[in-house]
Formats: sequence, structure tokens, C-alpha cells
Amino acid sequence: MTTIASVFSARALRAAVALSAVAVVSVLGAGGVASEGSPAPDQIWRSIFARPAARAVDELEAKKQALGAMLFSDTRLSRDGDRSCASCHRPESGYSDGLRQARGRDGTALKRNTPHLFNLAEGKAFYWDGREPTLESQARVPLTAENELAADWARTLADLGADLDLRAKFAAAFADGGVSEATVIAALAAYERSLVSPLTAFDRWVAGDEAALSEQESRGFRIFVGKGGCVGCHGGWRMTDDGFHDIGVDSDDPGRSAVAGGAAGIPAFKTPGLRQVSKTAPYMHNGSLATLEDVVAHYAGGHLKRPSLAPNLVRDLDLDAQERSALVAFLKTL
Ligand code: HEC
Ligand code: HEC
Repeated sequence: MTTIASVFSARALRAAVALSAVAVVSVLGAGGVASEGSPAPDQIWRSIFARPAARAVDELEAKKQALGAMLFSDTRLSRDGDRSCASCHRPESGYSDGLRQARGRDGTALKRNTPHLFNLAEGKAFYWDGREPTLESQARVPLTAENELAADWARTLADLGADLDLRAKFAAAFADGGVSEATVIAALAAYERSLVSPLTAFDRWVAGDEAALSEQESRGFRIFVGKGGCVGCHGGWRMTDDGFHDIGVDSDDPGRSAVAGGAAGIPAFKTPGLRQVSKTAPYMHNGSLATLEDVVAHYAGGHLKRPSLAPNLVRDLDLDAQERSALVAFLKTL
């Protein structure tokens, strides 16, 4: 028999405490008891996974977002007039594209899988290797990359500026009013900051509705925060620590080790947020895992074993068929 006490391992509790010291302190202050090895009260998990209050958006910001939404799918941002950001970050696929690796202009595969774009307003670094510090600096890259949009700024700005309706929208959204590189980028970034993953069954559970998760989903949650150790990296409401880790994905990609800030010899990648994860297959930086079942099998012994593996990755995780299904069922509630 698995008791609640045994699934809430000391390891998971320590991870939880590290994640949300403030929340834990406030729960304990309210009379809770949580010592090493004892069950973590659900109240602690609820505060760890609770969403912050929605970001206040003033009228000008709302106009930037609306303009950015239009530009995001505007093919005038590409040299051949046939692609846009939304060609790869498709809204109906969780802002991903369903491909193992993104497809470039010339039809060949790009190096990596197209990530979703949910909840990036609080992101700390962008791309799988975190090489871009802001959404603004990131957006400039695909715009002119030869195998992505390959835009010629002068022509793009002339095309956009010739559209009177669009010009009026720039004038309304920006104090300086002009159609420029800076305003195009600012509008795209404002739109991306507005992409918040929708409320789900898990949020209802977090808000206190015990019945929001089925028995199987709830069992999966216990594994996520317990013996699976998933919460050690996928904690917080976005379900990411914004960190970079080697979790033993089979690939030749050096990841973070090839960019400033990375550690030599450690093929680490950014922990992706797991909200809406059932919509964003395939998974990992190289799209090498086709389904959530494959992801769970990866963590349950299927990963490469090497010295650079993250210290907080649970080694030798043993999950039987029912536990695997439960964990997958939980991931689908996000
Ligand atoms: C050809 C497909 C393609 C196009 C077009 C494209 N992207 Fe991407 N995008 C990708 C891929 C692939 C990555 C991951 C690359 C990497 O990590 O090295 C990515 C990463 C990103 C990220 C980082 C997300 C994260 O979690 O770190 C953002 C933000 C983003 N793209 C926004 C945009 C915007 C804005 C546009 C349009 C200006 C755009 N993309 C156009 C394929 C594309
Ligand atoms: C040591 C930190 C760490 C732990 C612990 C961890 N993950 Fe991850 N997770 C990552 C990183 C880093 C990636 C991306 C790796 C890559 O692309 O090579 C990832 C990727 C994923 C993905 C793919 C998401 C996508 O958009 O491609 C899923 C799903 C996932 N993890 C679920 C889990 C589950 C379930 C557990 C527990 C069994 C877990 N993770 C434990 C760091 C971690």
C-alpha cells in the first residue's frame, strides 16, 4: 500500500519549500505542521501552483496587444509574403506546430522543436538554450533569419506603412506613432505577453474544488509532487523553474553549454512550462518524444544515464503501468 506519507518524500517537500518559501511560511504560520518526511498539506501545494492575479493591462497596452496579434499572423513580415510567426506557432496547436522540428523556408528541418508560447510574460530567458534575454530581442531573430521569415526590414516597414488602416493602429498604440522596427517588435512582444494559458481542471483543484480532479488524475498529481520529483523543476503556476538542466534526452545538441551562461560539457535545456502540454506534442528540444506516455517512460528509466544529469532528477524512478497512466492523466489536466 502506498501511503500519502510515503509519496510526499522529503525530497519533494524540500523542493517545494525551496520553490515557495513565502507560501510555506504563511501556511505554517496559519497553524500547519510540515516537517521533513511528513505529509505536505495540500494547502502548501495549492499555494505553490496558484496563479498570480491577472496582470493589469491599460488601454495603450491593450492596443499594442491587438496590433501585435495582427502582426503575429501577418505574412508581410516574411520576404516571400507566405509565412508569419503563426505558421510555426499555430494558435490551434498551443502556439506550436505538431512537428518534431520546425520546417524552414527551404523545406528543411530547423535544429529544434517549436516551443509553445504560453505564460512567457514571466519568462527569464528565451529559446531552448535561453540565449535571448527578452521577448523583444528574441522576436528580431526569426524575422530576419534566412530560413525563417527572412524579412528585409526596409521593405516590410514600407509595406506595413502603406496600409492606412494598420498605420492608424500603430499611431493609436504608440506615443511616437510611427511604423518602425522598434514598434513592430514592441507590438509582437506585447501580444506574446498576453498569451496566458486558459484555466483548467487543475486550476479548479488549486482553488479548492476537490472534485475537479478524478481519482486517477489526483493520483498522478501525487506522483508529480511525490516520488516522481517532477515538482523539483516544474513547480510554480507555470510549472517551470526557468532553469536549465540535463535530463538525459538523446541528442547531439549542446544546448545551454554552447551559449553564454552555460556550463561546459552539460547539454542542458530550458525547463518548459507544462501548461496545455497535451496540445503541444511532440516533446523536448528536438521533438524526439512523440507522446506524453513516451515522456513518462523517459523519466521512468528511459533517459540516458550520464554524469551531467541534473542532481535533482530522480534516478531509477520506477513507475508501474497504472502509475504511468495516472501521471499522464494528470498532465492532461494542465
Ligand atoms: C520556421 C518556424 C518558426 C517561425 C516562422 C517562428 N518561430 Fe519562434 N520558434 C521556432 C523554433 C524552432 C523555436 C526554438 C528555437 C531554439 O530554441 O533554438 C522558436 C522559439 C521562439 C520563442 C522562444 C520561446 C521560449 O519558450 O523560449 C519565441 C518567444 C518565439 N519563437 C516567437 C516567435 C515570433 C514572435 C515569431 C515571428 C516574428 C516566430 N517565433 C517565428 C520556430 C519558429
Ligand atoms: C531536473 C529538472 C527536471 C525534472 C526533475 C523533471 N523535468 Fe520535465 N523537463 C525538464 C527539462 C530541462 C525539459 C526539456 C528537456 C529537453 O528538451 O531536452 C523537460 C521537459 C518535459 C516535458 C516536455 C515538455 C515540452 O513542451 O516539450 C514534459 C511533459 C515533462 N518534462 C514532464 C516531467 C515530468 C512528468 C517529470 C517527473 C517525472 C519531470 N518532467 C521532471 C526538467 C525537468
